Amino acid sequence: TRLVVLASGGGSNLAALLAAHDAPAFGGRVVGLVTDKPGAGALDLARDAGVASVVVAPADFEDRAAWDRGIADAVAVFRPDLVVLAGFMRILAPGFLDRFPGRVVNTHPALLPSFPGAHAVRDALAHGVTITGCTVHVVDAGVDTGPILAQAAVPVLADDDVASLHERIKVAERALLVETVGRIAREGLTVEDGRATIG
Ligand code: GRF
Repeated sequence: TRLVVLASGGGSNLAALLAAHDAPAFGGRVVGLVTDKPGAGALDLARDAGVASVVVAPADFEDRAAWDRGIADAVAVFRPDLVVLAGFMRILAPGFLDRFPGRVVNTHPALLPSFPGAHAVRDALAHGVTITGCTVHVVDAGVDTGPILAQAAVPVLADDDVASLHERIKVAERALLVETVGRIAREGLTVEDGRATIG
């Protein structure tokens, strides 16, 4: 199974997938990284792992629609069986999803449907929840709204700030993402009528 990862930041989720994909039993290989950020740490991880990467920066395109096409084209070049958003901080246009129907998954650092959006950890902390977590879901046209594939719970500690809580979530998130992507790589993913099934 050909995995293409989209990331915007440090890439600890990408690192976890790269560490897992060397095992033949995993069932898939990361064949490409696409990022919107020229300086993303994920680029260094991909390079060190011998994985091809492409930067598709908004500044290089005359408008949003052109960037939407550019990111979809860059991903398509790698011929993905599964597209994994791992800390990708942009909203993908419906046209992107049309090119990879039922084959885009995302990891989110909260227990969806609670705390969608780009500030999930801050919002959970601000709300005073004592349990939060992470979610791997199929990406649909909404923001963090697609069918849920897997979740893991993470406790919130009294002295947590956003950074300490997010780090604790990311430990669980990396494991959940590797486990869920591995299952999809080995067993397949079916998305029908807004419901997703692995196997
Ligand atoms: C992850 O927690 C992801 O869910 C969120 O941002 C973080 C990215 O971390 N959107 P990394 O770049 O994979 O280290």
